[in-house]
Amino acid sequence: MTKYGSFPGARPRRLRTSPALRRMVAEHRLHPADLILPAFVREGISEPVPITAMPGVVQHTRDTLRKAAVEALAAGVAGIMLFGVPEDAKKDAAGTAGTDPDGILQVAIRDVKAEVGDDLVIMSDLCLDEFTDHGHCGVLDAAGRVDNDATLERYAEMARVQADAGVHVVGPSGMMDGQVGVVREALDAAGHGDVAILAYTAKYSSAFFGPFREAVGSSLRGDRKTYQQDPANLRESLRELALDLAEGADMVMVKPALPYLDVLARIADEADVPVAAYQVSGEYAMVEAAAEKGWIDREKAILESLTGIKRAGADMILTYWATEAARAL
Ligand code: PBG
Repeated sequence: MTKYGSFPGARPRRLRTSPALRRMVAEHRLHPADLILPAFVREGISEPVPITAMPGVVQHTRDTLRKAAVEALAAGVAGIMLFGVPEDAKKDAAGTAGTDPDGILQVAIRDVKAEVGDDLVIMSDLCLDEFTDHGHCGVLDAAGRVDNDATLERYAEMARVQADAGVHVVGPSGMMDGQVGVVREALDAAGHGDVAILAYTAKYSSAFFGPFREAVGSSLRGDRKTYQQDPANLRESLRELALDLAEGADMVMVKPALPYLDVLARIADEADVPVAAYQVSGEYAMVEAAAEKGWIDREKAILESLTGIKRAGADMILTYWATEAARAL
């Protein structure tokens, strides 16, 4: 044995000796342009409403949403993903507030567009769960099950009104079969050929969405297991990917991020379009809660988790820390 083991020349630590060296040999770098800020806007409020399980995140008023968009843009963030929260009285079985041209999400798209124009990529959640009184992502059949094809018709209409409002990218997140194809057809038929689709390709039925339910005032009882994926499955995501690409997805997404980095890596390997990952509400809440207790270094944990998601293959990351992280980079 020599002093340093059997291979004296092989000393990986040599490249870790100084910050400058470590910086030079870093294989991945986070950039503000990798980040997309998900944001909630709630109808009929005059002050932002804090979300208990997501300290630091609020349901925006129309006004504070515009400000958040301007701040994100100034920090160099690439885009904003909008979620609308309608007044409770406007929820119904078909989620009609989601397709009302004057519904909160459409109004918010127009507001943000008026504020930032084309400088920030404006994206919208294309899903019914915020607007239905039963809280499911689609409409129900007589037996109370989510009706795939009837839901697709609702998504087609939703895509049209969101595009009419000026959105750049729609994000179909309901996990209905055929949703990307139907949305593409509806957009093209309405003269919105330039509106892109960020497909929620691999979206798992996840406990990490918990805090989001509060964020959107969800009415859901039960779960989404008949349409969102089983956490046990990886191969199934590759099938979803093939279908989404065939149907015309411009970008694809894996969600949640951290518990599904293997899925993200596989999808990033296979896909020939940009790949996004969504660091979801529960991932955010875990770090914030541990930091609040003094159990973790908040800033380091945030940047490490984002770096890990990038290393696994994400070109873009949706994160509630987008503006803060972009400033820190
Ligand atoms: C559905 C949707 C959900 C999230 C984004 N889009 C919730 C769900 O599928 O139950 C979760 C996002 C998060 O947890 O941060 N419209």
